[in-house]
Amino acid sequence: MKSIIIANWKMQLDLKGAKELAMAFKGISEKDKEVVICPSFASLGEVGNILKKGSVKLGAQNCFWEVKGAYTGEVSSWELKDAGCEYVIIGHSERRQYLKETDEMVHEKVRAALSAGLTPIICVGETFEQRQQGARDYILIHQTTKALEGIKVDKNQKVIVAYEPVWVIGSGQAVAPEDAASASQVIGQTLIDLYSGDLANNNFSVIYGGSVDSRNIKSFVQTGVIQGFLVGGASLKKDEFIDLIKNI
Ligand code: PGA
Repeated sequence: MKSIIIANWKMQLDLKGAKELAMAFKGISEKDKEVVICPSFASLGEVGNILKKGSVKLGAQNCFWEVKGAYTGEVSSWELKDAGCEYVIIGHSERRQYLKETDEMVHEKVRAALSAGLTPIICVGETFEQRQQGARDYILIHQTTKALEGIKVDKNQKVIVAYEPVWVIGSGQAVAPEDAASASQVIGQTLIDLYSGDLANNNFSVIYGGSVDSRNIKSFVQTGVIQGFLVGGASLKKDEFIDLIKNI
């Protein structure tokens, strides 16, 4: 399976900055690696135009669960598909924290993303307090199950689950690779329990995110169980992101 590297630009760039970075990344083409860029909604169109025809894919950072209607300020997964997206990040911890996104909302968004033909990138992970209580695995199993339980995944659909320990995001200090590996295995087991082993192994990828950079990425790859990365800060620096991809 190809390893997947997803750039989450969050709300960090203006249009000019987003276009410059997209120009720098559009030529990235590495065998066995799928690179996805997730700009903000406002620069999705322009970044999509720059990436068009290249091998780097377009993703969004969120979607709404309804197809259309009176939902001021929301963007549906079908609109994202129309705009050229193939991926959408769902349930990022910043949305769970600041926008009070619940497991139920995440579930509806995953359903909508799959119906529109998008690959959902579902973020799960424990806070520092939950970790101190020894609840990491409970949180991972709970969030993964709530996001997916009862949703049918066909053989031609893909789902990505990203383990993102909330307390290391943007901190500059990633978790130990063995820690990320064991968390990935807990998520992987949950997927096998929810779906068949075959489907879980072929249609789902479990990736890691949280202060990944060009220096520490190799140690995560070497665990042999992490299938890709969700990258925030390091995806905003041209040379850093290109080195990071090369180092996989
Ligand atoms: P970070 O962000 O790489 O800056 O820690 C990752 C994320 O929020 O997805």
